[in-house]
Order: sequence, then C-alpha cells, then structure tokens
Amino acid sequence: MNQGFRLWPEQASTYASQVDMLMIFLTGVSAAITLVVFLAVVFLAIRYRRRRADERPAPLKEPHWFENVFAAGMFAVFMVMFFWGARLYFVAYKDAPDALDIHVIGKQWMWKLQHPDGTREINELHVPRGQRIQLTLASQDVIHSFFIPAFRIKQDAVPGRYTKITFEPTKVGEYHLFCAEYCGAQHSGMIGSVIVMEPEKYQEWLAGTVPDRPPAESGAKLFQQYGCVTCHGVQAPSLAGLFGTERDVVLPNGRQQRVKADEAYLRESILDSGAKVVPGYQPIMPSFRGQLSEEQLIQLVAYIKSLKGAMGPGGAGSLTGQMQSPVPDKSPTAPGPSQQTPRD
Ligand code: CUA
Repeated sequence: MNQGFRLWPEQASTYASQVDMLMIFLTGVSAAITLVVFLAVVFLAIRYRRRRADERPAPLKEPHWFENVFAAGMFAVFMVMFFWGARLYFVAYKDAPDALDIHVIGKQWMWKLQHPDGTREINELHVPRGQRIQLTLASQDVIHSFFIPAFRIKQDAVPGRYTKITFEPTKVGEYHLFCAEYCGAQHSGMIGSVIVMEPEKYQEWLAGTVPDRPPAESGAKLFQQYGCVTCHGVQAPSLAGLFGTERDVVLPNGRQQRVKADEAYLRESILDSGAKVVPGYQPIMPSFRGQLSEEQLIQLVAYIKSLKGAMGPGGAGSLTGQMQSPVPDKSPTAPGPSQQTPRD
C-alpha cells in the first residue's frame, strides 16, 4: 500500500492517529529540549569564556528560582508523557471480551492464525473493517513479534505464555505484517499481509473458506482424548463458568494468592497443575508438559472458555449440559476418592 516516500506509515486503525499524536508530541519535546540545551551550551561558552590567563571567576549567586521552575516544568512535561502513554497502552492492551478473537502462533518462520470459526491462515490475516479484533499470541519456539505498522501495533509472541493485543481497523486495504524480533536465519522472511475487508465481504470470504474445526471444538476432543473429562466432567473440579472468575489458590510454598482464571492461568494449570492449586484439592493432576503443542493448548483453553454456566458445587451438570457432542454421557471411570480430599 505504501507508495513513494512517506514520513509515517498509513493510518489504518483507530489506534494509529492516537499513537502518531503522542509520537509527534514526544519528538517535539525532545527537539525543543535539544535546541535549548544546544543554544545554552553555545551562549554560556561564549559568555563565560576565559579572557585572561590569570583570570579567576567572580563568585556567582545562583538563581534558585530558575532551577526550581525548570525542574517543575520538566516534571509536568514528563507526567504528561507518562499519562498520555499509559492511556494509549490501556487502549491496546485492555481485555476486549466482545472483540473478534483470533489466535496467533508464531513459529520459525511463519505466522499461523486461526479465526473463531476454525478458519486457518498462514502469513495472512483477513479482518472486517470497523470491528474490534483481539489477538491472542503464543510462540512455539522463540520470541517473535507481531507487527502491523499501519495499525501501530506490535506485540511479542513469547514462548511459555500468552500475550494479547487489540485493534480496530478503519480502512479497507492490504497492509504489511512483519516479525519484529530477530528469531533466526529466516527472520526477515517471516512476513505477511493483513487484509481489511468490509464486514459483508469478510463474511463472504469466511463463507468461502473451508474452516477447520473451531478451536473450542478441537479442545473438546482433546479434553476427552487426554482423559481430562474423567475428573473434570462429572466429579467436582468442574470447569464450567470458571473462565474469568477470581479465586484463591495455594502456591507450592503454601501461601495463598488471589488469581484471575484467564488464559494464562488455565495454560499453567494444564502444564503444571501444582503451581496454583485451589484450596481443598490435592495437586494430583498429572502434568501435560511436553504432551501438548501450543496449538492444542490454545484449543483446550478455548474449550474451557466456552464452558459457560454457574460454577456450583460439583457443577458437573452444567458442563455436560453445555457440551453439544464430544463428551459422552457415560459416567467416568477413574476418579478416585482422593480427588476431593481437603488439604487441611
Ligand atoms: Cu519471527 Cu523474527
């Protein structure tokens, strides 16, 4: 899309102009201060130069008011930078539950993306104009960085955790997508494009693709395949309605902590079940580290996210109730009595 010389990349998201304003402000302040310092150096070097070899400077009375005003002024300017920057940060990083959820996995050397209906893309992302999009990023190997200059967003994909960023495209078109973190020999080839379409066109495009299974559905299958359902299906550690709630957990050192049951928490609990245990339960769940790929983890988390319903005591009914197909009705075979042995 970029033709000829441009000082700024195209502005194609609601975020872009806001970032540019801040950027212009920061550059302006830096330029002004550089100019003041430079002129002061020149002026003072001439004004207070040594005139004779035996010259002793006269004692100076320092004007304290000047120092104070300067310090207060700079403090005010830095506070403006801080609050302005923080406000913009929250715009891009605040959780957006109503946004279109797109999963992104970075791997050497490609971007794998998946839409909520299961449609997959590689190094290409189609999005509707005028809708908030939330990306959840993970990495399968090293740190990558998902960078769309025209949207002014850049977010690292970090192995071992989820990161998120939201944006709202405002202009139909095709925009560059880069990996902005050196990630190995073919880092420079880890590029692609983001295609912003009118919402109807996006729906048409979606209808024309052959969607894979939606992540939550694949997750439901894994949930069964890996035996999660034997404990979490009917017995007490129900996962229905869990997502997004806050709960107290016990850390391995015995301390209690309040955590939010978000993607990161679910991911950690699957990989390392002893890290944050709900009081009253033993950390008996096996670790699934090394058994699940990032993609499968995302699917499992998406499935758990999809389990709505009240989290009652043993709220198992709601779990099976919500499930359409993959979880069978048969009662579980394994749960031992130790399952619910309270800690104390
Ligand atoms: Cu991926 Cu650089």
